[in-house]
Amino acid sequence: MFDWLLPEDHAIAILKKDHDTVKALFDEFDKAEHPSKKKIIESALTELKIHAILEEDIFYPAVRQHVGGKLMNEADEEHHIAKVLIAELDSAGGGGDHRDAKFTVLAESVRHHIREEENEMMPKARELDIDFVQLGHQLRAKKQQLLENGIPADAEHAMVEKAGPADSPAKAAARHRTPRKPVSKKAKSVRKTIGRKSAKAA
Ligand SMILES: [Fe+2]
Ligand SMILES: [Fe+2]
Repeated sequence: MFDWLLPEDHAIAILKKDHDTVKALFDEFDKAEHPSKKKIIESALTELKIHAILEEDIFYPAVRQHVGGKLMNEADEEHHIAKVLIAELDSAGGGGDHRDAKFTVLAESVRHHIREEENEMMPKARELDIDFVQLGHQLRAKKQQLLENGIPADAEHAMVEKAGPADSPAKAAARHRTPRKPVSKKAKSVRKTIGRKSAKAA
């Protein structure tokens, strides 16, 4: 509440600005034509990877104890799911014919995660008597370092790489569908005979 009054170096103000950036990219993706979608996906993935590191390395540890295990553990798991999808989009196949669908699911999941952070985690975290501006400076310094030195691969990237290219559920379903066998002439004649016998019996 009243977050527009926060100084711009306040850790929560910085994280919320990141949220606004990715939400704007998600909205842009929804309206974009195919060729521009590729670039939007790349920008969003970079933003999300940096944001996750800032939260996991700096913000979450600072507020975890006060916010409580339930909310924080859910946030951890939401990060994990998002990072698996990001790793699949980053992989050699890049999600194949499901790339746009995979990104849409990632966007839906991240929008949900952002709502929980902004409506539950951050209001609770603000009760803490800590120097949020100092925390904000740490976030800015870390972001700068990642932009200069690159983003290290995470455990989810290693996991996806080990598992190999992800198969799309649609392709898997098509592969496992049992083809219908053509009906032989003999079988057709047997069916006719049975049909006539049933009619007489009735
Ligand atoms: Fe988060
Ligand atoms: Fe966040």
